[in-house]
Amino acid sequence: MQPHIWRLEWDDSLSVGIPDVDKEHQGFILLINGLNQAIADRMDLAEIRERMQLILDDWEKHFAHEEELFRQWHYPDADEHAKKHEQVTQQLHTVMAEFSHASLGYEWISAGLKVKDTLIDHLLIEDMKYRDYFRSMPH
Ligand SMILES: [Fe+2]
Ligand SMILES: [Fe+2]
Repeated sequence: MQPHIWRLEWDDSLSVGIPDVDKEHQGFILLINGLNQAIADRMDLAEIRERMQLILDDWEKHFAHEEELFRQWHYPDADEHAKKHEQVTQQLHTVMAEFSHASLGYEWISAGLKVKDTLIDHLLIEDMKYRDYFRSMPH
């Protein structure tokens, strides 16, 4: 029995209605599940760090993509959303810095949880705001 297994599952309530963006969000869910699996399986720290770095890199590309869409839509809350992206990026860098030298399993478990919560909060709270705007746009 492994006590710290959780998996995120995609469901349609997470869809923002833009297939490319949904695909990116689904990709993060896979990456985060992979990170958690690596932590639960107690893979070595280099492997875990690599997976975390992968998420960070993809995350930054994804944010740039969303911000580009906001410009195309003339989305009124674009600046506010971009600020949230900056905060999320900073939070992730902090998690990376805090745990990059950690050797205890539980510290990695808590790092994995922070990454998951940060992603899910952003998706559920912030990205849902532009979903509503996008839906209301004439297309
Ligand atoms: Fe997003
Ligand atoms: Fe976003």
